[in-house]
Amino acid sequence: MMKPLNIGGLKLDLPIIQGGMGVGVSLSRLAAAVANEGGAGIISAVGIGMTEPGFRNHFRESNKIALQKEIRKARFLTDGVIGINIMLAVSDFEELLDIALQEKVDMVIIGAGLFLKKPENYDSKNTKLIPKVSSPRAARIIFRHWSERYGQIPDAVVVEGPLCGGHVGFREHELKQPDKMLPVLLQQTIKEMIPFEQKYGRKIPVIAGGGIYDGKDMYEIMKLGASAVKIGTRFVTTVECDAAEEFKQNYIDAGPEDITIIHSPVGLPGRVISNDFVKEIQEGTQKPVNCPWKCLKTCDYNKVQFCIAEALFNAAKGEFEHGFSFAGSNAWKAEKITTVREAIEQIKAEYFHQEIKAGERVGSKIKEQTI
Ligand SMILES: Cc1cc2nc3c(=O)[nH]c(=O)nc-3n(C[C@H](O)[C@H](O)[C@H](O)COP(=O)(O)O)c2cc1C
Repeated sequence: MMKPLNIGGLKLDLPIIQGGMGVGVSLSRLAAAVANEGGAGIISAVGIGMTEPGFRNHFRESNKIALQKEIRKARFLTDGVIGINIMLAVSDFEELLDIALQEKVDMVIIGAGLFLKKPENYDSKNTKLIPKVSSPRAARIIFRHWSERYGQIPDAVVVEGPLCGGHVGFREHELKQPDKMLPVLLQQTIKEMIPFEQKYGRKIPVIAGGGIYDGKDMYEIMKLGASAVKIGTRFVTTVECDAAEEFKQNYIDAGPEDITIIHSPVGLPGRVISNDFVKEIQEGTQKPVNCPWKCLKTCDYNKVQFCIAEALFNAAKGEFEHGFSFAGSNAWKAEKITTVREAIEQIKAEYFHQEIKAGERVGSKIKEQTI
């Protein structure tokens, strides 16, 4: 039986957190649909203002307006759990985090860097702060720093393995290393959390992400001690996903051989579905970069080969001549577009099947010792 997730009193009946997907792939519609099924729906904040008029001249203001709008839209569509995802690497990180805290979103997941600075207006009763890491060491550094500096720790942690979609927190040669695989990282991260759990007298949920696609994947990682899973790729091919139909179809048409790695101006490898644009950048072609706003702290826009924000936003609109889809290693498994409810029902049925196989269930009854 899937055990509900409890993050310091914030409860999820379905221990699934939908991965925030930029640019414009997970907005209010997808997030609300997942939240309505009992999971957590996550709006991706990165480049969210690109749909606003005048964005090129007012990028910071547009991002703030669009983020607030999407959070409020999601709240209108669901009473469930809604969060946002922000990358530390974006130049307006603090401003976006501030909007999220003001709007009292249920959770904020912070990736692409070490989340060391506790926001002044953070109140765990309103919003759970959850760093996303790719190594147990990074989790330890963040939690130790918070504990020593603030006498407080973040509410939970996401550990993401190398099969994930989007930016991957590993060097390219590490992507297939056995010691970097999610089950290993998960178990090490759980161990790292023990001293903090003892010190603060509460459970620190460790949430596993990267390459979790079906109920079997979910069952196996939950059995290793994950308190919940974070799933991105699987939710792209849903009716409610906020990207254009062409973006979803790109997943359905892809085979395993089409999923490849590029070097992103963020300074990390990125996993994408190959196309002519991707082949050109992999061959070293310089693309036109016209950057009036510098959305990434790490991006030297006079030197980069292409603009990642534009490439992702174009793809989300279905314009693949000037962009590409981020995608997880399992994106090729998509066969058709389903509703979020259908995807989740299938995951639950597969999970249930694994329990029967493992002898934890007899028919529809859970054996007492597993409860
Ligand atoms: C299309 C796409 C876009 C993504 N964009 C972001 C993003 O903007 N910020 C972020 O922190 N993670 C991003 N991710 C990562 C997801 O939030 C999630 O952690 C990841 O998808 C989990 O792995 P999975 O895709 O194998 O399920 C993205 C993933 C995908 C597939």
